[in-house]
Amino acid sequence: MVEQHFGKDYAGIPPENYERFFVPEIGAPLASDLIQFAALSPGEQVLDVACGTGVVARLAAEQVGPTGSVAGLDSNPGMLAVANSAVPAGVDIQWYEASAEAVPLPDSTFDVVLCQMGLQFFADKHAALKEMYRVLVPGGRLVLNLPGPTPPLFTSLSEAFRNQINAESAEFVNQVFSLYDTEAIRDLISGAGFQNVAVQFSTRMLSLPSPREFLWHYVHSTPLAGVVRRANDEQLSSLEREVVTEWQKFVIDRDLMLQVRVVEAAGWA
Ligand SMILES: C[S@@+](CC[C@H](N)C(=O)[O-])C[C@H]1O[C@@H](n2cnc3c(N)ncnc32)[C@H](O)[C@@H]1O
Repeated sequence: MVEQHFGKDYAGIPPENYERFFVPEIGAPLASDLIQFAALSPGEQVLDVACGTGVVARLAAEQVGPTGSVAGLDSNPGMLAVANSAVPAGVDIQWYEASAEAVPLPDSTFDVVLCQMGLQFFADKHAALKEMYRVLVPGGRLVLNLPGPTPPLFTSLSEAFRNQINAESAEFVNQVFSLYDTEAIRDLISGAGFQNVAVQFSTRMLSLPSPREFLWHYVHSTPLAGVVRRANDEQLSSLEREVVTEWQKFVIDRDLMLQVRVVEAAGWA
C-alpha cells in the first residue's frame, strides 16, 4: 500500500506527480478561479508564466479558441515535458524553457499574461514583472494569483519538517505562501509600469484526500520529494506520525479540508 511506504512507490518524478496529484487537488480549482477573473475572449494571445505542467495554459486555450493562441513558459524542463504531454489533441500550445526574469520573446506579443502561484518564487520579482509588461501589447493585461498567508494545515506540515527533517525543508512550504500582502503586491505590479492595478482576495475551501494520502501526494509533487529521498525510514515515519496527528483537526467526514486565502491581481500595460 502506498501509505505504508511513504509514497515511495510513486517517488522520483515530481513533475508527473504534480500533474497527477497537485493539479487536481489544488492547482485546477485555483486555475479555474483565475481564468474566470481573467475573462479571456476568443482570439486573444496568452502567455502563462511559470506554467508548471500547464493547467492554466490548457484552460486558457479553451477560452481563446482556435483563433487565439497560448504559450507557456517555465524554468523547469521536467514540468514543461509533462505540460507538453498533457495538451489535448487538436490544441496547439507553444512551450518555452526560460526564466521569468528573461523572457525570450519579442515586445508587445501578448494580449494577456497569466501567472498562477509563480511570482513568490522569482528571485527578482521586479525584473519578472517588467518582462511581463514588455511582452504585453499596450492595453494588454496581467492577471495573477498568490496563496497566503500559510494556512494552519501547512504550518503544521512546515513544523513537522522542521522537527523531523531540517529547517531548510520547512522553508519551502513557507515560501509557497510568502507573498500575500495586498498592498505589497499592488506596489510590485505598479512598480513595473502597470496601470489600474486591481487586487482582491477570497478564501477557498478545498477538499483533499485523507491526511496520510495528501501528505505523500504533496511531498512527492514538490521539491520536498528530494528532501524525503535523503531521509531515513525512521525520520519519515516520525514525519508521517506528526503530520497525520496534527491534521486530524482538519478532517471532516474523512476528507482533509484546506482553507486557503488566495490573492488575485490584475494590471494593465
Ligand atoms: C507552484 S508551481 C505553479 C505552476 C503552475 N502555474 C500551476 O499553477 O500549476 C511554480 C512554478 O514556477 C516555476 N518557476 C519558479 N521560478 C521560476 C522562474 N524564475 N522562472 C520561470 N519559472 C519559474 C517552477 O518551475 C514551477 O513550475
